[in-house]
Amino acid sequence: MIEFRDVDYSIDGRPILTGVSLYVNPGETRVILGPSGSGKSTTLRLLIGLVHPDRGRIFIEREDVTQISEERYRQIRQRIGMVFQQGALFDSMTVGENVGYALLEQNLDEDEVDAHVREALRRVGLDEGLIDRMPDEMSGGMQRRVAIARALASRDPKILLYDEPTTGLDPQSSERITDLIVHLRDTLGKTAILVTHDIADAFKVGNVITVLNEGRVVFDGPAGDLDRANNDFIHQFLAPFRKTVAAAAQRLPAGVAPRPAPAPPLRGGTS
Ligand SMILES: Nc1ncnc2c1ncn2[C@@H]1O[C@H](COP(=O)(O)OP(=O)(O)OP(=O)(O)O)[C@@H](O)[C@H]1O
Ligand SMILES: [Mg+2]
Repeated sequence: MIEFRDVDYSIDGRPILTGVSLYVNPGETRVILGPSGSGKSTTLRLLIGLVHPDRGRIFIEREDVTQISEERYRQIRQRIGMVFQQGALFDSMTVGENVGYALLEQNLDEDEVDAHVREALRRVGLDEGLIDRMPDEMSGGMQRRVAIARALASRDPKILLYDEPTTGLDPQSSERITDLIVHLRDTLGKTAILVTHDIADAFKVGNVITVLNEGRVVFDGPAGDLDRANNDFIHQFLAPFRKTVAAAAQRLPAGVAPRPAPAPPLRGGTS
């Protein structure tokens, strides 16, 4: 599981995240939804320890990672697969080298790396024959799959983080990537966070959605409750997507999200 407990983070005195709390259950794929600049990528950067909070605590599998050494964080990071915003493949490496990159660093021999790479490509629905291709010989949608395969291959991760995995793709490729994330959610049982500004993606993937605005959690609860959230920002943000939201509210029963104890202080609809 993953927990943020009342986390503040600022850059040069400017608040970027304020009082952020959220709890992701084991095996859940949580969606963090919010407009550009709301602090979504920063939340992931805090989680993987690229930056550190000014205040509050962050737990990964019950371990308070705000209290650990850089060496311990390095070990934890090896068990986290991250799909960076825009995919961020190495242009000068083949697909196979991109996917197996982290494994080579972990002293696995070449045959083992090759087997892991092929398995990861298969899981994301890519032909193993693509292993020697260069990224720029593939479509944008295929490159995103490679980026997801790379996250899956990194030493059998316990946690998967996706940062805007569909941004910049055409609607069809975007839908295929979202379908893949849903498929991985349902077959791998890993704890995951999907960061997106796309409401359609959010509703497709997340039964529980956390909405950020200006670095604050303005909603945290079942997707089916979002429609009824008593918050001006959420109403404005959702306005162009009323049909999607209403359909999701029908599909997802409200108020049934599993809640751990102790629950974080924030509940849906408050701000
Ligand atoms: N290294 C940095 N230096 C200064 N400001 C930063 C830095 N990183 C992030 N910020 C600021 O923090 C805020 C949150 O940024 P973040 O990248 O987390 O937003 P986001 O929700 O991921 O946005 P997007 O949807 O555009 O990716 C923004 O106002 C951004 O300008
Ligand atoms: Mg971002």
